[in-house]
Amino acid sequence: MTDSGAGRKAVAILISGRGSNMAALIDAACAPDYPARIALVLSNRADAEGLAEAQAKGIATAVIESKGKDRAAFDAELDALLNASGIDIVCLAGFMRLLTPQFVQGWSGRMINIHPSLLPAFKGLDVHRRVVEAGAKITGCTVHFVVPEMDDGPVIAQAAVPVPDGATADDVAAAVLAQEHVIYPQALRWLAEERLAVSGNTVTVRDAELAKSALLSPLP
Ligand code: GRF
Repeated sequence: MTDSGAGRKAVAILISGRGSNMAALIDAACAPDYPARIALVLSNRADAEGLAEAQAKGIATAVIESKGKDRAAFDAELDALLNASGIDIVCLAGFMRLLTPQFVQGWSGRMINIHPSLLPAFKGLDVHRRVVEAGAKITGCTVHFVVPEMDDGPVIAQAAVPVPDGATADDVAAAVLAQEHVIYPQALRWLAEERLAVSGNTVTVRDAELAKSALLSPLP
């Protein structure tokens, strides 16, 4: 622990690839009043591009290769590393590996994910192509607590993005990604400030004014 951040929650970001949401979280956590510090970036693939960027930003990185590894064994290794690193909160950011219910339950209320649709619509992969093919007029992104079911769990923040006529999946992906980079740091801030109350599937943010302004993220 370096700790210029005494009292700040220690966060691990789990990635498998590009890491643009990871970078947005790292950048947000540079603000002096941000309530969390990024203590670790971990990938299940040694070739994840985000690893080099995290290192360049001075963040500790680790790799636990998942290929060919038993799911329970991988999760046990991951859990041990997170605990040994003193991690309080786990952020999944393009982490392309299903986690066991046991692992998820162990991090319940302390692990969040970002998905590039307005959940519960368009769960799963290849979201933007399916959005365009479905003729949806509005899409967006969601930060949610992680539960054992994939792309499910109480919603913390969402941003809506219009789908203009003729937009391609790549157009939509770019517009949604820009909003992901806004709502993920905001959602992590609320969690780290312990301002989120969960009742069933509903998350309430203590301090209604702030919650309102962030949930209505400006459209591109
Ligand atoms: C993002 O679209 C995120 O919503 C999804 O995977 C993608 C990861 O992108 N879960 P990046 O690695 O953060 O750039």
